[in-house]
Amino acid sequence: MRIGIGNDHTAVEMKNAIKAYLESKGHEVVNYGTDSTESYDYSIAGYIVGKAVASGEVDCAVLTCGTGIGISLAANKVHGIRAAVCSEPYSARMTKMHNNANIICFGARVVGVEMAKMIVDEWLNTKYEGGRHQRRVDMITEIEQTQNLKY
Ligand code: RB5
Repeated sequence: MRIGIGNDHTAVEMKNAIKAYLESKGHEVVNYGTDSTESYDYSIAGYIVGKAVASGEVDCAVLTCGTGIGISLAANKVHGIRAAVCSEPYSARMTKMHNNANIICFGARVVGVEMAKMIVDEWLNTKYEGGRHQRRVDMITEIEQTQNLKY
């Protein structure tokens, strides 16, 4: 797969570790994050990576900042993005199965590199179930596109 990766200044080491890990699994990884530990706004990385996923420039993406939260909030403002913050593999699996999350996020100050690898593996290796979940995912899109929800 062609996977985007983005990060702020708190997560450079984590980004590099996960990038190398994904490449070792045969994925092509596009780095959109900062490579410097100088302060870098997570909102920028979230936006750039969100656009890259929404446009199809990459198939999906991994985002990491201190908590994973700020960067996910920014990415989720891009139409078509479902970015989920996960701190363990169970949620990573379920967010693919049920929410069809197209970006996985985690906190570099929250999880260690080995846990992050497990989170990414679980998310990448799980398939979206569709079916009854599609209606709910479609509702998220409806809110995004219309700022309204018919329910
Ligand atoms: C940066 O200090 C920190 O706010 C950021 O990495 C992230 O945790 C925000 O959600």
